[in-house]
Amino acid sequence: MGVSINSTITWVGKVDWELRRFHGEEYSTHRGSSYNSYLVRDEKTVLIETVWTPFAKEFVNNLQQEIDLKNIDYIIANHGESDHSGALPELMRLIPDTPIYCTVNAVKSLKGQYHQEWNFRVVKSGDRLNIGTKELIFIEAPMLHWPDSMFCYLTVDNTLFSTDAFGQHFATELMFNDLVDQSELFQECIKYYANILTPFSALVDKKIKEFVSLNLPLDMICTSHGVVWRDNPLQIVTKYLEWAASYQENQITIIYDTMWDGTRKMAEAIAKGITGADRDVVVKVFNASRADKNDIITEVFKSKAILVGSPTINRGILSAVAAILEEIRGLGFRNKKAAAFGAYGWSGESVKMISERLKEGGFTLVNDGLKLLWNPDQQGLDDCVTFGGDLARISMFP
Ligand code: FEO
Repeated sequence: MGVSINSTITWVGKVDWELRRFHGEEYSTHRGSSYNSYLVRDEKTVLIETVWTPFAKEFVNNLQQEIDLKNIDYIIANHGESDHSGALPELMRLIPDTPIYCTVNAVKSLKGQYHQEWNFRVVKSGDRLNIGTKELIFIEAPMLHWPDSMFCYLTVDNTLFSTDAFGQHFATELMFNDLVDQSELFQECIKYYANILTPFSALVDKKIKEFVSLNLPLDMICTSHGVVWRDNPLQIVTKYLEWAASYQENQITIIYDTMWDGTRKMAEAIAKGITGADRDVVVKVFNASRADKNDIITEVFKSKAILVGSPTINRGILSAVAAILEEIRGLGFRNKKAAAFGAYGWSGESVKMISERLKEGGFTLVNDGLKLLWNPDQQGLDDCVTFGGDLARISMFP
């Protein structure tokens, strides 16, 4: 049922405690998620966003207990992706003439997905919708994270409805940012940014600065996933500005896969070498075929340097390493160093191949990598320690 956010805004979304995979199988959601939908009641009543398709009937049933659907004057579709628009077909069957306010690109995405000629009202940045004593101001936010994305701002309540931005996949019944476990919340926030918003960091920075230049007071951010930011909402905006600025912590991450343990032994010896050279740096080591892909990406996001290792197989690299390298390439990380390593028995192409992929992904290669024939002996392990130490020393300086 609905949850009161304040005297004007009621949350009418869905908390999805069961969700463990999002975007098909692409994104792990260890803590579930929520699809946030809001009713804004003034002289006019506005519904902002809906929920994901599997919950469409449940959503409309609950909404009918909250309000006579005929009393919804306007619908706002801030973003067309189906986790927010998925209940529109069910809802629009019952109130087919209700205007849907959205961007010109959202008309394309909504028509493309649902093949319906709904009563679309295209809005642009700066357009306003009077709802009685208050107004909604629309702010286009293309590529945060789809071309169709926009924010809307409710005057008097000083509330920004920010669609996916500032959100996180985090199921909670507590609703507000100040009530939940802060380490869990920020872990999900940074994971969301790292895995979804990294490629659009320049636009994140620009959009936040544009919003700040509007001088609109900000008391609350209602995102489309996770908590409502009511306690110091600027804290997540500040975090986004930090994350958008080629973010890094004092961390080096090692990612590898292994067939007969040679490359694993190399990874562990390299980790020792890093720590031996710099006691302050955080070193994290992941087997790409066993660790969660999105968690690894979050650690890459936090790192100032990464090492990627694979043995050679079929003149190439192991599939789990190839998959994470493809993910890393697409996200377009900036301002990070990298190097490759791997054990081999015969032809030994893996290190060169990984180096090329890291370079394509925008990483600065610090050397040509380290390859060891067969399983590393003591001399090989010593070479790995030296290799790790060298990388740590190079990475001490930006
Ligand atoms: Fe939560 Fe881009 O949808």
